[in-house]
Amino acid sequence: MQVHKAEYLSSAVKLEDCPKPVHPEYAFIGRSNVGKSSLINMLTDNKSLAHISSTPGKTKTINHFLIDDRWFIADLPGYGYARVSQVERAKWEKMIRNYFSKRENLACVFVLFDIRVSPQKNDMEFIEWLGKNGVPFVIVFTKADKISQREREVSVKVYKTRILESWEEVPQLFITSAEKKLGRDAMLEFIDSVNKQLS
Ligand code: GTP
Ligand code: MG
Repeated sequence: MQVHKAEYLSSAVKLEDCPKPVHPEYAFIGRSNVGKSSLINMLTDNKSLAHISSTPGKTKTINHFLIDDRWFIADLPGYGYARVSQVERAKWEKMIRNYFSKRENLACVFVLFDIRVSPQKNDMEFIEWLGKNGVPFVIVFTKADKISQREREVSVKVYKTRILESWEEVPQLFITSAEKKLGRDAMLEFIDSVNKQLS
């Protein structure tokens, strides 16, 4: 699948402010700085659609993009950033939980993990929570350009082993690099196939 048109729609601080749920939606989530916004730009072949920052915590709202008038991308604010107050964290949790449990057009969540970072407690808790709430998700490893092929394989294996401690099977995985445009075709094919199942 090719992307021809990608438009920014809106930034929401709560579910009610999100666009009408008229198209299948793919949400991008993960720790602050994991590369959510960069991945969205890579997939849509657009350098500045989603705002990228070297400072963690850049994305603070639920940002919606309309792709080819047919599907939505939601760029979500990251979690796990240490320099965030308890109050901010509680606000984030409330917004995210509400979004995931009530967003009716949610087709799939892309949960992003930095391929260089070993499985973190809050990442594992987060996918547990998605599973328990019946939210469909797949795992996307980011920043693959930063390590060798061999190191990638080791890292993916560590994640698989860890996930199998609490899951019966490993969810679908994608290995990506926004820098090298790696994994783009595979992710777009996946989105296309889900869109077709839903239409
Ligand atoms: P928040 O919105 O703050 O939660 O961050 P985010 O997850 O949206 O991350 P963002 O896309 O802003 O990227 C964070 C940093 O990682 C930026 O400096 C990016 O340039 C860098 N980065 C993201 N993806 C890649 C990648 O695939 N390869 C490399 N080398 N750097 C990347
Ligand atoms: Mg971001």
